[in-house]
Amino acid sequence: MERTFIAIKPDGVQRRLVGEIVGRFESKGFKLVGLKVMTVSRELAEQHYDVHREKPFFSSLVNFITSSPVVAMVWEGEGVVASARKLIGATNPLSAEPGTIRGDFGISVGRNLIHGSDAVETAQREIALWFKEEELVSWEESSHRWLY
Ligand code: TYD
Repeated sequence: MERTFIAIKPDGVQRRLVGEIVGRFESKGFKLVGLKVMTVSRELAEQHYDVHREKPFFSSLVNFITSSPVVAMVWEGEGVVASARKLIGATNPLSAEPGTIRGDFGISVGRNLIHGSDAVETAQREIALWFKEEELVSWEESSHRWLY
């Protein structure tokens, strides 16, 4: 089953939007298979944003993502990579549609709250970079009485 890597960036954590954001992925119907709150090392940040190494915003991006804790997650489900990108919205929150996470809560491109993998192959690379195999779980919905 397809998986994607999602990170709530420092601004999302500081603004207490973790529950709101997690709720959107849950409500959509995706399955949470990995979750941790962590401080990001410079090494991890630089590897994660390696494709942007030559961009003018690279150092500010790395400084920001390492500045305070993030919430790293792996979500699973059919078409989850592309669907998560839709739930997240455009990179610049001012262009992001209302109803998306960035469209509803963001203003600035440098403070756009959340990261989501942009393709299935990118997701595989990012999941391997951020999570150990044993930190991810596989689970099925239970139809048993103990649920309620
Ligand atoms: P990018 O991968 O293009 O966007 P997305 O997060 O939507 O996949 O860029 C990575 C991050 O870099 C982006 O979330 C915010 C930051 N960024 C800037 O600070 N300035 C910019 O001009 C761009 C394009 C991105």
